[in-house]
Amino acid sequence: MRLTWLGHACFSLVGSRTILIDPFIPEGSLPVEPDIVAVTHAHADHLGIAAQLLKKTVAINEVAKYLRSKGVPAEPMNLGGSITVDGVRFTMTPALHSSWLEDEGPGFYGGVAAGFVIAMDGIRVYHAGDTALFSDMQLIRDLYRPDVALLPVGGCFTMGPDEAMIAARYIGARLVIPMHYDTFPAIRQDVLGFKQAIERTTSIRVAVLSPGESIEVGPESPAK
Ligand code: NI
Ligand code: MN
Repeated sequence: MRLTWLGHACFSLVGSRTILIDPFIPEGSLPVEPDIVAVTHAHADHLGIAAQLLKKTVAINEVAKYLRSKGVPAEPMNLGGSITVDGVRFTMTPALHSSWLEDEGPGFYGGVAAGFVIAMDGIRVYHAGDTALFSDMQLIRDLYRPDVALLPVGGCFTMGPDEAMIAARYIGARLVIPMHYDTFPAIRQDVLGFKQAIERTTSIRVAVLSPGESIEVGPESPAK
């Protein structure tokens, strides 16, 4: 599976299918044509261009209902559930965060925020969404055994590097990729310090990607 960070919380996973998670792309255009889009919550920096892409989109009930009203073939689900779309398994995990959908007028409640474990081609990727640290991340490890964890580290709106270090240990994935940092001044972080601190104290590897950069993830070990 080829995993690409497109900036902020947006990733593409390219294997037997092309998956796009949280399609807010801070700069540049979309380099992939997704088969399936996954949206963790309604905030504009995650919902992004989901309503314009018009692809099969996995999202929580409230967001899926909104997207359907815009003509998107959305697949509704909710926390703790799993669905299979075109052979790709999506499990919706809790996140400790809020969710508000900006539309005409003041906007409206977007359901609760979530994360996903996405299983494709024998590889399991956990995208935490926007979240605080919570100890039930250990259940995500026990239940779904993620190979890769995509964790927000920017602070302010999500956990920061100190909390994400504990999250990485709870989740137990062999590879962590930090996200949701440096997009704007409030979430600036020393992400290389985060990488060094984890790699000095655990066997977990941290891949710090630049927007647009890819990494190959195999069933055994990351190639990078
Ligand atoms: Ni958010
Ligand atoms: Mn966010």
